[in-house]
Amino acid sequence: MAMNGPYPVHNVTDESVAEAAALLVAGQLCAFPTETVYGLGGNALSEQAVRRIYAAKGRPADNPLIVHVADEAAARAVAGEWPRAAEILAARFWPGPLTLVVRRGAAIPALVSAGSETVALRVPAHPVAARLLRACGLPVAAPSANRSEQLSPTTAEHVRRGLPGVLVLDGGPCRLGIESTVVDLTREPARLLRPGALPLSALRSVLGEVALPGPPMAEGPARSPGMRTRHYAPRARLVLTPEGSDPTRLGGAGKLGVLMIEGRGWTANAARDGGDRLVVESMPDDPQGYGADLYAALHRLDDAGVETIVVHLPDRGETWLAICDRLRRAAA
Ligand code: TXA
Ligand code: MG
Repeated sequence: MAMNGPYPVHNVTDESVAEAAALLVAGQLCAFPTETVYGLGGNALSEQAVRRIYAAKGRPADNPLIVHVADEAAARAVAGEWPRAAEILAARFWPGPLTLVVRRGAAIPALVSAGSETVALRVPAHPVAARLLRACGLPVAAPSANRSEQLSPTTAEHVRRGLPGVLVLDGGPCRLGIESTVVDLTREPARLLRPGALPLSALRSVLGEVALPGPPMAEGPARSPGMRTRHYAPRARLVLTPEGSDPTRLGGAGKLGVLMIEGRGWTANAARDGGDRLVVESMPDDPQGYGADLYAALHRLDDAGVETIVVHLPDRGETWLAICDRLRRAAA
């Protein structure tokens, strides 16, 4: 196998996991599956490796990274303090799609956290991520494995296309498909920074009160830059409309993509609505199923070469919060 890229996508074997772990130990990067989206990992203890992550993604240095660890003990080891809320949430939801922001310990370079005194920590549930973390024995800084501002990857093929030259462990399509929920535990009450795959109701059931994020900021340094408005965007222009409305009234002369929900109002009729001009993605009418396929569906619409994507926004309250958040950012 070639020592310097492009690396192929690898099936998960003892050898490929060992090779990916060796890259991490050597300060290089590799991509790996988590239950939410694929991550682009580097040694979180090495400033040089962390620099490589920002460079590979084209990510502004003011957008901090999530550090992935094997278990709660490994999280405590790199945290500056471990509040009671972290203990409770870790016991209940780790491994899983929940990221805890706590005070940063001295071992983690400030660059990981974009200079902040805090660090975001998560124990992923995907067995391949768990294997890789055990094999390398390091905390692994890993943002989503896409170029900055582009769609998050939920398959190894998405990663390969966006970041050719990076070794990718192929763990199949991500089960949840929406990034982890990020919660700030450095304040009381805890505050939601990014809605995600773990529902807000689950956090509240354990913590009681959880404050909501402030309004999204379009520009400038953000306290949690995932809160910047534009993010997670496909190449096509995205237009949000209420569920059930006729998408053919929107969009320009070019090919039109439609992201609709099965059985909700408007139904595609290709003959009536313009034949080849329309590409329809019909999504499941439940937030788990919808979330699991959201990025993949947007990738498919981009691949089909649509100019505009009309989205039936499932604005139906808290259980659809993370999905509507991603759709609004993609449309911003
Ligand atoms: O599901 C996920 O969280 C995926 C997988 C790979 O684990 N990772 C991910 O990373 O979505 P990324 O870099 O695309 O998003 C990181 C989010 C951003 O919203 C960032 O602002 C926030 O976490 N974040 C990271 N460190 C933070 C910190 N110290 N304080 C506040 N927010 C932080
Ligand atoms: Mg991301």
